[in-house]
Amino acid sequence: MRLGLLGFGVVGRGVYDLVQDRSDIEVAKVVCLEEVTLPNAEVTKDFKSVLEDSSIDTVVEAMGGLHPAFEFVRDCILSGKNVITSNKALMATFYDELIPLAKQKGVLLRCTAAVGGGIGWLSELERARRVQTLRQVGGIMNGTCNYILDAMTRGGMTYADALAQAQKLGYAEANPSTDVEGIDTWHKTILSANIAFGISLDMASVPAAGIQNILAEDIASFRARGLVCKLIGMAKMENGKLSACVQPVLYPAISTEASVPTNFNLITLIGSASERMSFYGQGAGRYPTAYNVLQDCADILSGKGFYSPYGEKVQAVNDDKRTYYVRGASDAWLEENTRENWGDAVITLPVETEKMHTWRKAHPDVFIAAFEK
Ligand code: HSE
Repeated sequence: MRLGLLGFGVVGRGVYDLVQDRSDIEVAKVVCLEEVTLPNAEVTKDFKSVLEDSSIDTVVEAMGGLHPAFEFVRDCILSGKNVITSNKALMATFYDELIPLAKQKGVLLRCTAAVGGGIGWLSELERARRVQTLRQVGGIMNGTCNYILDAMTRGGMTYADALAQAQKLGYAEANPSTDVEGIDTWHKTILSANIAFGISLDMASVPAAGIQNILAEDIASFRARGLVCKLIGMAKMENGKLSACVQPVLYPAISTEASVPTNFNLITLIGSASERMSFYGQGAGRYPTAYNVLQDCADILSGKGFYSPYGEKVQAVNDDKRTYYVRGASDAWLEENTRENWGDAVITLPVETEKMHTWRKAHPDVFIAAFEK
């Protein structure tokens, strides 16, 4: 297998390093805008040099972002090259373009590193879905947010210091607001739901609330009540109705989710036969993520393509009711729906997820967290 590697950041460099030990996979060319010299690969700034090189059978996209990643990946598929990507934003956003196109062109497309970093979550989802009906997928899917929440909860760190540390360790996206605002988890939830349920989930129907407004006083209030806050992406299929959202969730301190440390992820599926199965591991970082790119290389070498058939467009319906912790703003709707006060924050009566998220959008400085059901 001769690879063209697009991008030489945290993941790209890791892929290059891991491939050096292999005889069946080589990195032929690296597309990189910085000045880099590599002993065992040609470095170029020109994407066309990879696209037009017929000796390159597979392209690894590790650039991140939507553009030009989409155009590059599309052109590689059109020219008959297999594609491996770690880019969840790309896969969630251009699902309707890339999955049918890869099928039409008969090329193999995989993206295991896009969700769960070093956890083989999507490849396990592929296996789980083929022999049973899945009911629920999701969990802790962003290493940066888990690192921040854990450092604030157990290490007493400030939000800003914890985020800076997560960036230094290579966990955060190029623009870390993508992590803390829940957008990265949103992409991962949508991609997981598409594969689990064989659908194409309408992204606009999935609300996302992040952790960007959390304060030390919120964490102290949770700790005093035996609760731990985690950012959760969840998609659930019940009686033909799909609900999906991303939000901070409060778990009892003794729960499995509450004990997930640093950049680790914990992603769970519930299936009709397997019931609950959870996957735990490094959710971000150079070599864990590159490990899953190499797993995709091995799968493509054995002829494996995408994880599930492409399916119909589905809207998420989030009319289930939950109790929320809300701090940072108030109005008549919140007062009507308040059950009790916790210092500056309120605890709501059960309210519809959709309504809570619509209210939050109108109050961008608030912090909300759902109580675990
Ligand atoms: N920024 C992502 C995270 C990288 O922190 O989880 C892995 O997808």
